Amino acid sequence: MTKVLLTGGAGFIGSHTCLVLLETGHQLVVIDDFSNGSAEALRRVAELAGLGPWRQASAEHWTAAEPGGGSLTLLRGDVRSPRDLDRAFAITGGGISAVLHFAGLKAVGESMTQPLRYWDVNVTGTVQLLEAMGRHACQTLVFSSSATLYGTTDRVPIPETAPLQPINPYGYTKAAVERLLTDVATSDPGWRIALLRYFNPVGAHPSGRIGEDPNGLPNNLFPFLCQVAGGRRQHLEVFGGDWPTPDGTGVRDYLHVMDLAEGHGRALDVLQAEPPQMLTLNLGSGHGYSVLELVRSFETTNGLTLPYAVVERRPGDSAVSVADPREAERRMGWRTRRSLADICRDGWAWQSANPQGYGSNEGQPTGALIGAQQVS
Ligand code: UD1
Repeated sequence: MTKVLLTGGAGFIGSHTCLVLLETGHQLVVIDDFSNGSAEALRRVAELAGLGPWRQASAEHWTAAEPGGGSLTLLRGDVRSPRDLDRAFAITGGGISAVLHFAGLKAVGESMTQPLRYWDVNVTGTVQLLEAMGRHACQTLVFSSSATLYGTTDRVPIPETAPLQPINPYGYTKAAVERLLTDVATSDPGWRIALLRYFNPVGAHPSGRIGEDPNGLPNNLFPFLCQVAGGRRQHLEVFGGDWPTPDGTGVRDYLHVMDLAEGHGRALDVLQAEPPQMLTLNLGSGHGYSVLELVRSFETTNGLTLPYAVVERRPGDSAVSVADPREAERRMGWRTRRSLADICRDGWAWQSANPQGYGSNEGQPTGALIGAQQVS
């Protein structure tokens, strides 16, 4: 049984990964500042994993555990803070053997107006994390990278060897962190690092208990479409009907978040089982679907009609982005197992049961959100 630290573990991908890792008996420590994540998500993760009640050990620290099995400890903290990171490594008595680094900012438009914030959280946050890993003798890291690194290439499908040409500050920070991690691995051959380049993660856990809960207006297609289906938004705007694709709308590689979460479990297993190395892998399905194909699949799967209007292209978009996922299959025996219909069914199960997501965290103490009992 390994003890793993997840930065940003209360977010969309982090929370689903927590569940997968708890189901395989891991002990987890999550550090999250709740800027785009929710304590309620982890309360539900603990419930789905069958963990016991939450215990509040201090003002910023809660634990749920199963006797003799998995455990989930949550610490409110910031990855840029050495003090918070040291606490995260020490909080359960030390012994953290690997880190999954999800914490980061990810909205492309916002990164263009607030580049300093993006460089600070995404790059400085990773530098601080690496320093803390050094202090706590931990050299295994799985990093949330992105297909955004490939920019607006026309190459289909995209292999890991394609040139990296990000086109916005968010993408530059992901490229900078990949470079940083490569330099760190070169400086000391003891490191075990996976750079996982996600394509378009969507869907939700099939229970409908956890899912994506973006702050404010969703930037991405799938959460927007779910909110239109639920009546929270009037109609979907399809960005461009004149792309060089079969139906004129943009084509993307959508992968179910549970497949992605399992990919993290596999990456961890491979890093821990094999000699130290760097893995750079695309995580995608290898299949592309257009905006209109996704809309139709959502409608057919869920028996709904989604109003939409085709509008101008969004600046910075590309026609097609599809992964070549063969290296992930070759290196870690992973490939997506869930279909577009599974994605649409599970996304709607989450949205229809939680029309306002997890509800607002604001003004509510985290202990109250997760229903923790105070312990001395
Ligand atoms: C976007 C980001 C990417 C980031 C990824 C995950 C841009 C240009 N790219 O990828 O850097 O890594 O999210 O956070 O922002 N679409 C609509 N209407 C909408 C929203 C999207 O038609 O309201 C279309 C887009 O034009 C695209 C497809 O849907 O063809 C998918 O868009 P989206 O979900 O935003 O993902 P990406 O653009 O692939």
